This record gives sequence, structure tokens and C-alpha cells, in this order.
Amino acid sequence: MKQKTAFICQNCGFHSPKWLGRCPNCGEWNTLIEEVEEKVTAEFSFLPSEPILYEKIKEAKRERIKTGIEELNPVLGGGVVPGSLVLIGGEPGVGKSTLLLQVSRDFAAQGEGVLYVSGEESLEQIKIRGDRLGLQNEKLYLLAETNLERIIARAEKLNPQIFVLDSIQTIFSSKLSSGPGTISQVREVANQVFRFAKKNQIASFLIGHITKEGSLAGPKALEHIVDVVLYFEGERDHSHRVLRALKNRFGPVSELAIFEMGTRGLQAIANPSAFFLKERPTKEAGSVVICTIKGSRPLLAEIQALVSSTLFTGNPRRMTIGLDHFRVAMLLAIIERKLGFSFAGEDIYINVAGGLTIDEPATDLGVIMAVVSCLKNKVIPADVTVFGEAGLSGEIRSVSQPLARLKEAHSLGFQRVIMPQGNISQLDKEDIPDMKLVGVKNVKQALSVIF
Ligand code: TYD
Ligand code: MG
Repeated sequence: MKQKTAFICQNCGFHSPKWLGRCPNCGEWNTLIEEVEEKVTAEFSFLPSEPILYEKIKEAKRERIKTGIEELNPVLGGGVVPGSLVLIGGEPGVGKSTLLLQVSRDFAAQGEGVLYVSGEESLEQIKIRGDRLGLQNEKLYLLAETNLERIIARAEKLNPQIFVLDSIQTIFSSKLSSGPGTISQVREVANQVFRFAKKNQIASFLIGHITKEGSLAGPKALEHIVDVVLYFEGERDHSHRVLRALKNRFGPVSELAIFEMGTRGLQAIANPSAFFLKERPTKEAGSVVICTIKGSRPLLAEIQALVSSTLFTGNPRRMTIGLDHFRVAMLLAIIERKLGFSFAGEDIYINVAGGLTIDEPATDLGVIMAVVSCLKNKVIPADVTVFGEAGLSGEIRSVSQPLARLKEAHSLGFQRVIMPQGNISQLDKEDIPDMKLVGVKNVKQALSVIF
């Protein structure tokens, strides 16, 4: 039986029994979305309906279920909370199904009941992936189904501890007439799974596809519904994948985990700095190792610059990969004005090696040094790493977490660090690892110590 639905304007709340391209009330286009008109009953809600005094509320003890991937637990805030709903978004092909099949396998191996529902692939296809990942006699339930009400009925009967739905764009509720993947459906599915998770105290994962442009009927529309939003990112031509939390009702959002996609699935990278530096050329000009903070932890990465005479006189190229284009343009201006270089006739390419993206001003000094190293054709010694934010007057400003950066650099064998003078004065002498710190106040000084 179809439930009563209505088309509701997302801009002004206008109700219409049928779809309209333009809302007659507020005049906005394409804002009418089909929604189920449900009577809200007490049973509908999983929360108590009586007001309770604050002091009477007992703190719920949240037992977290740890995943078998150690690096993943901090991203979830220490493990997954029973009854929570986690959304994992990412571009098609990035490895979402692979990650969750691996996680499901590990949960099952720990003795948790797991139900993995796929609306995208047949059981045989899942098995092919599972064989690749080395799954054997796992106590893992699979279901290939796209009808949400049937899925939930099956899941309630099985009553697992872990529930995975792959993907939200392929599942539809029979309460709505619109097709799978539309905003109405995606939202209805998320809402029903949310209630299912809370009511049965099942830790649930939703997979959602997003595209580079954001997404049409995508996870963006769900972020406020679910408890945790994780994004899985990676470049097609690189093997590493970054999983990070964008929202977490049960923990911090600064953590991230880095994985490598191999022939047998995803492998967490325990030492990302070493991973990103392993192919670094140490005797080439234009390369410098920077120490950045990604999420809450330090990461060493290599910045490369290449300057070459342009074929486009009057309009030379400024290409950056992995860094903010506008920020780099500003740094190039600082190099011209404050250091007296001129590259009006040069193309400039700046790249973060390994396909990383970094958006932290603390990389400024590294970018400047890489460019100058290339311009002067002078190699930056292999045991040097740098960090520091550059201001428009060429001053080098302090950055956050200097000690964490130093420790990371030290653990990877770096002996000299060029860093903001302001940061050195903040540090406690005893904490500093055994390495040479060179504090600088401006870009000029930074270059004179190295070249
Ligand atoms: P998949 O998990 O299907 O991506 P998503 O669910 O996000 O769309 O991963 C697909 C890609 O990963 C595909 O290009 C094949 C590759 N892959 C490996 O390289 N190694 C493996 O062991 C597996 C299972 C997949
Ligand atoms: Mg998939």
C-alpha cells in the first residue's frame, strides 16, 4: 500500500499533491520534493517524550565496537557506537565497497553479527571482490536487495550488531513514487535507516556516491540526518586513499586515516610520512620536504617546483597541483617583490608529490623555498625540512603544533629544520628533539641560511 505523499517546496514549505517545476508560493524553480506524509506518533520516535531534569540524566555509557583496522578507529572517534548511523561518501571507484567489506569481515571475525546489503552488486560480484580480499568462511550475512522496507524487515529479523547498506543511491522506499537516487528517496532511506539503527541499537553504515562537482541527489543532503559523515578520497592514478571525518556526533573530526589500494584490497598506511617521501629525489633542485598537519597529526610531504621559459609570452603558466592556486599566486608575488626575482617570462609548475592535497598556510615557506631552489638551481640538502606561514610583507609567522611537526621530522631522520622564529621561542627546551632548529623571521633570512 502506498502511503500518502506530497511534494513540498524546500524553500518555503509549500505543499502540493503533484510535482511542479516552479513553486507557486515563492516562485523558486525545482524546489518541490516528494516526501512521505506520516502521522507522527509516539511510537514513531525513539526518544523519551517526557521532559527530564538535566541532573537526572544518567550519562550513557557508550560501548564502542572497534573495527579490525586500527587506523580507522580514531576516525570514528574510537570505534563505532551501537545505534549510530555512519555515512561514507566518496567518488565511484574510490574503494568504499572494498573498505566496508573488509571492515565487515573483521567485525564478523570478532564475533559480531554483520549484515551487508548491496543494491549495486549481485552476491556473485560481492564474492569475487571477497575472494580478492581473501575472505573465506566468514560468518557474514549478505543480501542483494534494493527495496528498503524488505531490507529493514530482513535486518530486524536477523538482528545483527553491524548493518551496512551499499549504496544509498540504489535503494528505494516503496512509500515514495520517485525513483532511487532522487533527493526524496535518498532522504527517506536515510531517515528510515536512522530510525532502524536507533530503535534496534545497531551500528549502521550507509555508502553514498558523490561526484567531484558535489553531487546531485547525494550525501550532501544527508549530512544533517546521520551521526557521522566520513569522506573517502583519492586520485585515480594514485594508490593512496584518505578517509576523514567531516562530522561526528560522538568524537572529534580532525582525525584521518590513509590507506593504500593494492591488489588485495586496502591496507592502512601506518607511517604516511615515509610513504609520501619514499620516492623523493634528494639531489634535484626544486624539491623540499615540508612538515604539515593533516587532520590532527603531522605529515611530511615533498613540494616540487619547476620553472621553465614560457612559450606563452605575456601570459606564462602558473600551474599548481595539490595546493591552493590563489595562495601559490600570492607566494609567487612575495618572491618577486621581497626577494627580487623576476619570472615574467617563465612558466611555473608546483606540485605536491604523491597526489596529496594540502591546504595549510604552514606550507608557504616550503613553496617559496622550492621555487627559489629551482630558480637558483641549488639543491636543498636532504636532511632539511621546513615549515612556516608567509605574510605579504615577507615575514614568516608562527604556525600551530610546532612540536608535533618537529617530532615527526626527527622520527624520519631529518636533522635540520627551518621554521618560524616565533615558534622556537614558544617551545620548551627540554621537549625539543635532538636536531638543529633554525628560526627565521622573514623569507630573506630563510633563503640566506639555506643558499
Ligand atoms: P570499489 O570498492 O568497488 O569502489 P566504490 O565502492 O567506492 O565504487 O573499488 C573499486 C576499485 O578498486 C576498482 O577500480 C578496483 C579496485 N580494487 C583494487 O585495486 N584492489 C582490490 O583488491 C579491490 C577489491 C579493488
Ligand atoms: Mg561500490
